[in-house]
Amino acid sequence: MKKAIVTGASSGIGRAVAERLLREGWQVFGMSRRSLERLGDLAERENFTYVQGDVSKDADRLRLVECAGEVDALVNVAGIAPRERRDILEMTEESYDEVMNVNTKGTLFLTQGVARGMIKRGGGAIVNISSISAYTSSTSRAEYCISKAGVSMITQLFADRLAEYGITVNEVRPGIIRTDMTEGVVEKYDRLIENGLLPIKRWGTPEDVAEAVWMLVNGSLPYTTGESISVDGGFLIRRL
Ligand SMILES: NC(=O)c1ccc[n+]([C@@H]2O[C@H](COP(=O)([O-])OP(=O)(O)OC[C@H]3O[C@@H](n4cnc5c(N)ncnc54)[C@H](OP(=O)(O)O)[C@@H]3O)[C@@H](O)[C@H]2O)c1
Repeated sequence: MKKAIVTGASSGIGRAVAERLLREGWQVFGMSRRSLERLGDLAERENFTYVQGDVSKDADRLRLVECAGEVDALVNVAGIAPRERRDILEMTEESYDEVMNVNTKGTLFLTQGVARGMIKRGGGAIVNISSISAYTSSTSRAEYCISKAGVSMITQLFADRLAEYGITVNEVRPGIIRTDMTEGVVEKYDRLIENGLLPIKRWGTPEDVAEAVWMLVNGSLPYTTGESISVDGGFLIRRL
């Protein structure tokens, strides 16, 4: 049975990825911070193992890697937005550290830990969930944009370093996806989408993103690494 680690598995995109892999008969080791009791029906699923923890903490990452053993795939989904949107001129060091520690440091060092096992077993697939914010300026959440640009470079670096071991490392860049993370800005994005921000005139779903992740981990793109796939309704297209 194929095995995967999925961070951020309790909610939104990570949960959809975990469910997609379970549906394909994979064994999934999921990590997020909330208690097992707050995981709902995912906790009951056969072949799902929950490791409660914080990806920004070394001891928690180690526990996850030890629990899962050598895996076929790692999907780094866990991520946070700043607690408060503040202009870059008012951004605090505390908020910067918090967002970078989870989104960027957590992704970097979990990948490092899992990659060592993948090298031993001789292959694997790593997928990082970044964002359109990796290249799109939002001056009221600069720390988030910076953290996701960092994830893009993490993808490039590990893709380069791990290619010789048969390990692919790719990135999925979601656009505007309806999850808990975007709950507070629904009206804003409803309006932007209605006014033509996206060629595909709707919110993305966690399942849209999970589909792209599935394509990258199932071995159907063996000659693709260091690549990023946008799941954004066409946000990237310049239009006149
Ligand atoms: N929604 C969007 O529009 C959008 C767009 C682009 C990119 N993304 C990215 O997609 C990823 C998933 O976000 P989402 O939209 O699905 O939001 P979400 O529903 O809030 O999910 C975030 C997940 O990350 C987990 N998490 C947060 N901090 C963690 C930590 N320190 N350690 C372990 N797990 C942690 C959360 O679980 P706990 O709270 O239980 O820890 C939750 O499972 C994020 O990286 C986000 O930046 C989202």
